[in-house]
Amino acid sequence: MYTQLEQRGMAEPPVNVSTLRKMKAEGEPIACLTAYDASYAVLVDAAGTDLVLVGDSLGMVIQGHDTTVPVTVDDIVYHSRSVARGLRRAFLVGDMPFMSYANPDQALANSVRLMQEGGVMMIKLEGGEGQIEIVEHLARHDIPVCAHLGLKPQSVHKIGGFRVQGRDAGKAGEMVKTARRLQDAGADIVLLECVPNELGKTITGSLEVPVIGIGAGPDVDGQILVLYDILDITQGRTPRFVRNFQAGHTSPLEALRAYVKAVKDRSYPAAEHCFS
Ligand code: KIV
Repeated sequence: MYTQLEQRGMAEPPVNVSTLRKMKAEGEPIACLTAYDASYAVLVDAAGTDLVLVGDSLGMVIQGHDTTVPVTVDDIVYHSRSVARGLRRAFLVGDMPFMSYANPDQALANSVRLMQEGGVMMIKLEGGEGQIEIVEHLARHDIPVCAHLGLKPQSVHKIGGFRVQGRDAGKAGEMVKTARRLQDAGADIVLLECVPNELGKTITGSLEVPVIGIGAGPDVDGQILVLYDILDITQGRTPRFVRNFQAGHTSPLEALRAYVKAVKDRSYPAAEHCFS
């Protein structure tokens, strides 16, 4: 009975939270990407991606909104279910949309929907001091949690734009403390978006759980990027941390393999993708 999840008929067993912790301990970079449908999920998995996120970035890259705010729990459930069907080895994380975790009970009910209906193995929420109690509540119910710190796109209207966070020493210190409190509350992964390299390094060094960065510099435990950004599908201006991996490759699968390789050999991110 127990072999089902661990094997799925493969030579290499599926990634789980223990695999991710072991990768951190052994210094093996964790390669992560977003995906939103089964066809891309198959490619992302075949390329060797360790963790796949059904991000609420789907509001922007799939639905065409300017922000992630309009995304609903139904949207994440729908896309997660499709992605889950395409994955064999990668660990699947689903994003909790804006206002779907405003209190512990609502967070628990919506996490259960993402896991039972969407097939995700972990939920991600944009966390701060205000979400400690929620993370504790989810952990008490054995819901694996990824806490997203730094630039929190669901707060874009409150912070006034998509900007680098933690440049000021006081704010950086607060973020380090909050990251530790989220870990102590039961978070299994911390995701750091758009922070200076030095802060990414400090937070990674002070946590036992893996830290995945997006625009958080090279000294984190893993990297994540939005699939459509690295395949050159996103038009217009992309953030500084994005690298076009499609350039020089003839198929999406080749480009995705190049991304995984670049994360693993630490050639991505380079200085031009980082913030100081
Ligand atoms: O929704 C998303 O794609 C994300 C990424 C920024 C990691 O949260």
